[in-house]
Amino acid sequence: PSNHSQTEGLLGLERGNCRAKGGSTGFKVAILGAAGGIGQPLAMLMKMNPLVSVLHLYDVVNTPGVTADISHMDTGAVVRGFLGQQQLEEALIGMDLVIIPAGVPRKPGMTRDDLFNINAGIVMTLCEGIAKCCPKAIVNLISNPVNSTVPIAAEVFKKAGTFDPKRLLGVTMLDVVRANTFVAEVLGLEPREVDVPVVGGHAGVTILPLLSQVKPPCSFTQKEIDYLTDRIQNGGTQVVEAKAGAGSATLSMAYAAVKFADACLRGLRGDAGIVECAYVASHVTELPFFASKVRLGRSGVEEIQPLGPLNEYERVGLEKAKKELAGSIQKGISFFNK
Ligand code: NAI
Repeated sequence: PSNHSQTEGLLGLERGNCRAKGGSTGFKVAILGAAGGIGQPLAMLMKMNPLVSVLHLYDVVNTPGVTADISHMDTGAVVRGFLGQQQLEEALIGMDLVIIPAGVPRKPGMTRDDLFNINAGIVMTLCEGIAKCCPKAIVNLISNPVNSTVPIAAEVFKKAGTFDPKRLLGVTMLDVVRANTFVAEVLGLEPREVDVPVVGGHAGVTILPLLSQVKPPCSFTQKEIDYLTDRIQNGGTQVVEAKAGAGSATLSMAYAAVKFADACLRGLRGDAGIVECAYVASHVTELPFFASKVRLGRSGVEEIQPLGPLNEYERVGLEKAKKELAGSIQKGISFFNK
């Protein structure tokens, strides 16, 4: 069957017992939507992560092929594939981290909100499985519209009695990755040296880069601020248009998802000082969900950091972001309660 490695199936588990179970160290990670445009490179990069001992790949199509392929990489993680709804629970049992890139992506002319009807249902089903099979797992939610799918996931977990706001994180890391890249270009710096906080949410004007807080400290002209804000907010749309119907960002997203998942795993391991931006249940503003810098630790989100001093431009941007976010959050909650 596709959910066991070939060696496990043919030789039994005796000699390879410890390895086949994933050994005693390392984390167990599931990717839901693992055969998709994001899922495949994400699976490949997670297989390369030394913190991962077991990697479960779940999708409604094509997981046997992706699993066979990835499982031949000579890195430590044991890879198992799970195909179709009837194998969802088996895929989830015992997981420490569940990453969700399942769902349809945008085509040219679509907003992330246009994906709502299909992806909301997918996220709901997957989260019901998580509540049942691995209620303590950290969840990294990538499926769009993130501004609404995270509130939906929270409602599912609340209904199941398993909601822990520290463990549910909407992935906005691609906005940070883009911001770092574009700001580095303007400043003539190496992108790895640049750190741009991006707060709010993950769609259009809700993506709010805090250019006044860039590290290393620097200043921008108004023209540069307008250019960078627009480029960061519309980075996803640029990719959707360039792919011309073949999907949205997948490779840079897989990179960002792995960067974020690795931070979550280092937090779980107990590393100190791990801070990343994520869209979480929050009291930073009056909204119930908001993306901002969070400190990650053994229990997930251990601290939500304040936004810090904003300039006038950012304060105006924040008001616009909050207005749109409020609607997207309400839409998610209403979907669940309908
Ligand atoms: P894709 O269509 O290439 O892959 C999606 C995968 O999900 C497919 O393999 C499909 O079979 C699978 N799937 C569908 N229904 C499922 C279900 N019920 N259970 C499990 N798997 C299911 O799409 P792609 O490009 O990988 O994008 C996935 C999602 O990620 C989209 O919603 C997209 O908008 C979102 N996204 C989010 C970003 C972010 O920054 N948070 C950035 C880019 C994309």
